[in-house]
Amino acid sequence: MRAGEVRERFLSFFERSGHLRVPSASLVPSVYDPSVLLTTAGMQPFKPYFRGDEEPPSRRLTSCQRSFRTTDIENVGLTLRHLTFFEMLGNFSVGDYFKAQAVEWALDLSTSKEYGYGFDFESIWITVFGGDDELGLGPDEEAIGYWRAVGVPDERIVLLGRDDNFWQSGPTGPCGPCSELYLDRGPDFGPESDRPGDDTERHLEYWNLVFMQYELQADGALPELPTKNIDTGLGVERMASLTQGVPSVYETDLFGPLVGLGEELSGRKYGDDDATTRALRIIADHGR
Ligand code: SER
Repeated sequence: MRAGEVRERFLSFFERSGHLRVPSASLVPSVYDPSVLLTTAGMQPFKPYFRGDEEPPSRRLTSCQRSFRTTDIENVGLTLRHLTFFEMLGNFSVGDYFKAQAVEWALDLSTSKEYGYGFDFESIWITVFGGDDELGLGPDEEAIGYWRAVGVPDERIVLLGRDDNFWQSGPTGPCGPCSELYLDRGPDFGPESDRPGDDTERHLEYWNLVFMQYELQADGALPELPTKNIDTGLGVERMASLTQGVPSVYETDLFGPLVGLGEELSGRKYGDDDATTRALRIIADHGR
């Protein structure tokens, strides 16, 4: 499944479920937002809606947002999955549906062979926010309950802390606990003892569901937003690596040609040695 179809399957699935398809906003933040230099996620253009400052054109939105993460720059080339510039597919609810519906749709689109990505249900692992003392929040029992309700056994539900499963777009702003979907890529990528969240390559995180209900303040206070919202993010490049059965984002139809151009211009070969592979990945990421 080429990247174009990864995008289209997502956007049309959510369109059929009553979401308004909106185009990607600029990489330079399209709304006043001093918390970031560049757009880092699909939710950023929608912050005024989550805060209740502006009325959204629809309570349900879906988009494919150009995003840029300076925080990942040192990892580019070292892992199979990190990029600076990437595209993030998302479905958003502004005070409409919440956790249960987001969980059901994420699983349906992940597993449907007909209109989704066709993953085996048994290969999908889930992470859930395990609580944080500083934030004064306990484990997200509600989310655990919804994953159990759609049939995910406890062995494949992993509780993680604030670093992994509490999402905020900058030091302040709309935020909330999140729950991530991972695909177990099997023994070629690591031993059975690997777990989602332990920074190994066997389980690839491909979709983040944020239950956005707080507004983090500079002093650490965590008041509730006017509505309970959903903000999800699925990386097009990572999903393309899964649907194309290639080990890394650099071997997908999105990056293969750029790596090939780097090889042609440098006379080096991807895979020759670690330094060359890393350099060709960096050229492809930065070039794009
Ligand atoms: N905002 C969340 C993220 O970037 C989900 O879209 O992961």
